[in-house]
Amino acid sequence: MKFNERVFSGMQPTGSLHLGNYLGAILQWIELQKTHECIYCVVDLHAITVWQDPAELSRAIRQVTATYISAGLDPMRSIVFNQSQVSAHAELGWIFNCVARLGWLNRMTQFKEKAGKDRENASVGLYAYPNLMAADILAYRATHVPVGEDQKQHLELARDIAQKFNNDFRESIVRVGREDGIFFPQPDPVITGPATRVMSLRDGTKKMSKSDPSDLSRINLTDDADTIARKIQKAKTDPEPLPSEPAGLKARPEADNLVGIYAALAGSSVPDVLAEYGGAQFSTFKKALAERAVERLSPIADETRRMMQQPDEIDRILADGAARARAIADPIMAEVKDVIGLIRS
Ligand code: TYM
Repeated sequence: MKFNERVFSGMQPTGSLHLGNYLGAILQWIELQKTHECIYCVVDLHAITVWQDPAELSRAIRQVTATYISAGLDPMRSIVFNQSQVSAHAELGWIFNCVARLGWLNRMTQFKEKAGKDRENASVGLYAYPNLMAADILAYRATHVPVGEDQKQHLELARDIAQKFNNDFRESIVRVGREDGIFFPQPDPVITGPATRVMSLRDGTKKMSKSDPSDLSRINLTDDADTIARKIQKAKTDPEPLPSEPAGLKARPEADNLVGIYAALAGSSVPDVLAEYGGAQFSTFKKALAERAVERLSPIADETRRMMQQPDEIDRILADGAARARAIADPIMAEVKDVIGLIRS
């Protein structure tokens, strides 16, 4: 059976979103909503795999929602909601805990990074996190998942889970009326654009991340214009001028990163940016980059702040999105239960 194209993606409401989230994911989400049915989730159940302060969690869920919309997601066109309002995620997540193999999860590099040395003390949820992510996607039979490069391995696991479910229950899947025996699609990662892996402004070999202790390492989508400009000005660079060809960025991770960021913000490409700025000093280039970044990001911060003054309006958007999400996921879950042999009312 051919599955209709459907897009699903999500972000964790932990701290404020940053430039990596914006360039690696949200920009692609905005493009895809022009052509596809899209479901964009605030993955609060993923956030609680590490302890979250309850008041701060509620605030972060609203803030991520407000940022999505301020950045250009249209909640009328796309479905925007928070994960915990749709029970299919947790239900299918459990079922996938029973499909995925320990050996598969043991290979997940993000768990190793996040759990660090104190692995024994990590939550079971953090370990099983990729199974819940597979459930997020497959509860809607989504076919396309726009993400940054760091999520690639999790997407491969989602594909493996879909395939194993299809294999394990083939006969039953046919019995419920799917003649080709294929219940779930194999979701494709969509990893595109010049900034699929935005690096720290303090160290071009480390990913830009919410968990970096230095706030100077990232540009938050809530930063004001002065803060954005200051962080770019302080960004680590090397002493050479910019090269005029992409090959000249090899072994220059900080330069590579800033050029990639510029290209993504300008809707341009790395070769085009270098054609313009090749030979320029960083002082000149950083000024131009700061202007681009402020022009692009400060309206998002302003609108997010405005929306955060009306939390009831945000909650209404989330409730509406959740109702629309349930309308898709609940019938799929009913079918999953039939396939497995669970009795339902
Ligand atoms: P999260 O919340 O860490 O990140 C959200 C999105 O931002 C991308 N991203 C980056 N892209 C480029 N450069 C960076 N430095 C950078 N940092 C983050 C991530 O790749 C991601 O696309 N597990 C996911 C959330 C999730 C999900 C899903 C995603 C849960 N269920 C289902 C897709 C489909 C995560 O923790 O993303």
